[in-house]
Amino acid sequence: MALIDPILLKSRLGQLAGRFDVDALDECDSTSSELMRRADRGAPAGTVVVADRQSAGRGRRGRSWLSAPASSLTFSLLWRFAGSPARLAGLSLAVGVAVARGLEQLGAQGVCLKWPNDLLLTQSAGHAKLAGILVELASDRRGTQAIIGIGLNLQPPAETLPQPVAGLNQALSGEVERQQVLAVLLGALAEILDRFDRHGFAALRGDWQQRHAWQNEIVHLLGEGAAPLVGRCLGVDEDGALLLETGGGVERIYSGDVSLRRP
Ligand code: BTN
Repeated sequence: MALIDPILLKSRLGQLAGRFDVDALDECDSTSSELMRRADRGAPAGTVVVADRQSAGRGRRGRSWLSAPASSLTFSLLWRFAGSPARLAGLSLAVGVAVARGLEQLGAQGVCLKWPNDLLLTQSAGHAKLAGILVELASDRRGTQAIIGIGLNLQPPAETLPQPVAGLNQALSGEVERQQVLAVLLGALAEILDRFDRHGFAALRGDWQQRHAWQNEIVHLLGEGAAPLVGRCLGVDEDGALLLETGGGVERIYSGDVSLRRP
């Protein structure tokens, strides 16, 4: 039996239960790949696939995503928007705001955001990665579908990873049940995605900036096939582009990986 109990989840979702159709699996290749196949067969918005184990979990920029069943929550949510992907600038940052707000509702402290869409936990030694988000868009003549994949560490992963990692347990003072975490995150996602659909990222930019881990810090930006850039991180614009102040002025950055420049 999967670690998510559907009956408990339904009760935790309360009035929101009607907006989501959640399938809890023991294992799949990737919750996002599985959901994409279901979306192709006509699954409605609000379909969720959550899995204890992924044999081919995917991260940003072609990386893989490893997660241990008991210490992580991995799920994907299908959402549909009218119009083309051009309307959806900043969607993955909006998802970051939703996840941060959900974790805060659970009582988490020290959660912050790293561009474009990582969730970090502030710790005495610096910031450590708490969750990752992968948003994949596909459009047809009816509109655009988003497969929103979220991997959250409930406890810090045991394996050694290239960057510091944290678990939700380190941000909370007590225990929290897995169903409750998923229900609260889905509730926060529904609220923020509705707001994003009506007003775009502009309406959420303030929420993002407020939680920005590296506001005004000097960072390195690594982009595929581009020379690394160093600059002061000024946050994001209304489309979710990173504003980087370099010797040449303020540049708008649309893709890449940011890391903090060590003194
Ligand atoms: C990243 O930080 O690189 C994004 C990681 C996203 C991982 C999640 S886990 C659930 C969903 N299924 C996947 O295969 N990937 C996303």
